[in-house]
Amino acid sequence: MTSTVYLNGEWLPADQAAVSVFDRGFLFGDAVYEVIIAYNRQLFRLEQHLARLTRSLSETGIQNPFGIHEWRFLIERLIELNEGDNQSVYLQVSRGVSQPRRHNYPLNLTPTVFLSSNPLLLKSQRSSQIKACSAVTLEDIRWSRGDIKSTSLLGSVLLKKQVFESGADEGILIRDGWVAEGTASNVFLVKESKIITPKISDWILTGVTRDFIFELCFRYGLVIEERDVSLPELVDADEIWLTSTTAEIRPVTELNACPVGTGNIGPLWKKMAAYYDRHKAELFSCGS
Ligand code: PDD
Repeated sequence: MTSTVYLNGEWLPADQAAVSVFDRGFLFGDAVYEVIIAYNRQLFRLEQHLARLTRSLSETGIQNPFGIHEWRFLIERLIELNEGDNQSVYLQVSRGVSQPRRHNYPLNLTPTVFLSSNPLLLKSQRSSQIKACSAVTLEDIRWSRGDIKSTSLLGSVLLKKQVFESGADEGILIRDGWVAEGTASNVFLVKESKIITPKISDWILTGVTRDFIFELCFRYGLVIEERDVSLPELVDADEIWLTSTTAEIRPVTELNACPVGTGNIGPLWKKMAAYYDRHKAELFSCGS
């Protein structure tokens, strides 16, 4: 069955939704987006995603077409109209349509708003059963405003191809010798029972899952440090994790074809994944 999408005020079968070829999202990647998860048809961390969307729109000067309540209404309706108890919602706002094509843009454009949803094929209902993965380090060739969740993702697409060709599952991006983030995730490492993650900068996205890990650390009394992390420190880590909305927390047990720590899933990851599951079980009656 075809899914239902929202496009500029209309609910449509996905295969009937179309935008103008002069849409600036299509021509320039002049658009921002969010990916939001629903467990058991209930949204996880919606306020945080909408706060980041608001920031991305404001940083790019794209008009925010809706207030928080309207956004919530639209996203909840999208979930009702689509299949799957667990869904991954994609939301994109482009600057709108302007013709002829020119880099500079008129100020009075009407943004193009697109929402779609896919059933989320969770590898497991439980974070603690997520499988380990391998990663390679790659030079971060993306632009310097990774803090904006922009659809201009050519850098990430090319990097992901390199990851695929290397035979690894994920890429960890290094800028000037410092760890930035994954190709579509944030990075955490563990050294001597301390959890460490690169501090927020223009290079990286403030992950909603990253913030959630901080909250879990505070709630359960785990030590977490936010600071610059060098490549040698990453290589020497006892554990490495990647976090994102759809992957939750993924343990990396192999980096550049060498074992991370013992080469097995680490004790702190197991602890954190169990806390994650407990929280999901409390909120959504799932994950336990
Ligand atoms: N990506 N960094 C980058 C570059 C990302 O693309 C993402 C998420 C994250 C993690 O953010 P969050 O925890 O809020 O999902 C960090 C989404 C899932 C995507 O592009 O599909």
